[in-house]
Amino acid sequence: MKLLVINGPNLNMLGIREPAVYGKADYAALCAFVREAAAEAGVAAEIVQSNHEGVLVDTIQAALGVYDGIVINPAAYTHTSVAILDALKAVALPAVEVHLSNVYEREAFRHVSYAGMACVKTYCGLGFEGYRKAIRFLAGLEEA
Ligand code: DQA
Repeated sequence: MKLLVINGPNLNMLGIREPAVYGKADYAALCAFVREAAAEAGVAAEIVQSNHEGVLVDTIQAALGVYDGIVINPAAYTHTSVAILDALKAVALPAVEVHLSNVYEREAFRHVSYAGMACVKTYCGLGFEGYRKAIRFLAGLEEA
């Protein structure tokens, strides 16, 4: 099984950006965590990060026929991007949404997730652990 892990804008600033919200670990640490979680689950995972909505759409489109599932933290585009929602619906790969923070306990504008409407599952507020659960869920190892 091959999974694509997509991270949206500002996640490359982990460790620097709002550590009280997102923690002190940096983006490299998140990537290392994801690689380890994928290896543990027995799946291959490629990780992509972009600050650009169109690049995220292109990345999702290019996943068709290449990957078996998508783990996506669209970051701020979660709450604004119909384009990312439509791309996820277009490829129709099983997708799991992840957020480091609990978006439903934050500002009201973070309570709407467009991308989430095309995802089979959401993990939020679990920090890095949400990515492990998302990978395990797609690998059929995590309880629903
Ligand atoms: C986030 C939550 C979003 O609301 C925010 O814009 C982010 C990160 C998270 O992982 O908690 O950039 O997706």
